[in-house]
Amino acid sequence: MTYADPSQNLDSPKVKRRDFLYVATSAVLGIGAALSAWPFIDQMEPSADVLAAGGPLPLDLTHVAPGQQVVVKWRSKPIFIVNRTPAVLAELKKPSLLSRLRDPNSQQMQQPAYAENWSRSIKPEYLVLVGICTHLGCIPGYKPQPGDPQLGPTWPGGYLCPCHGSRYDLAGRVFQGVPAPLNLPVPPYHFAGDASLVIGENPKGSTFQLSSVEQI
Ligand code: FES
Repeated sequence: MTYADPSQNLDSPKVKRRDFLYVATSAVLGIGAALSAWPFIDQMEPSADVLAAGGPLPLDLTHVAPGQQVVVKWRSKPIFIVNRTPAVLAELKKPSLLSRLRDPNSQQMQQPAYAENWSRSIKPEYLVLVGICTHLGCIPGYKPQPGDPQLGPTWPGGYLCPCHGSRYDLAGRVFQGVPAPLNLPVPPYHFAGDASLVIGENPKGSTFQLSSVEQI
């Protein structure tokens, strides 16, 4: 599957597809926090050699604040990384949310076995997703604020696809009644240290490949 040119679809004028890295923050962090995050995010940019090879992509998440999303490009795909707060993690388990999701228990093959759990992740606080909508391939926007005025009082925080309105929660699980059929994929990754993420390489013992998911 090919995906649409997201330069037409990203919902922030500050965000451009050509950027290798960008950050998105929740409303509570504010614009100042977003701007101050840029310098250290830039320092995490890997070498051109690593990018060209499409090899494992190491990232230091030490300074990614709770509630903040970082987006990197790996093998030409946007990868969302979110530092989820305890409140977000509690929300992910609520029956009132689970009953609104199409595949709340991640039974569809859209993630490696090590992310087939309630948080769809290795470490619950860190969400790692391929940021490509499973409908027609746009890049969903980060909408972490519960009750976001655009999405209504029952919105728990998540992602909104700007193309046809598909919605996902903060584990990348798709809501019922939207065009997207599947949860957002989880790429291969592991942690080399507490906040030392390596995208593109499984934990020891796993042979998961992103090409094995049902749909990107
Ligand atoms: S591409 Fe996301 S809703 Fe259509």
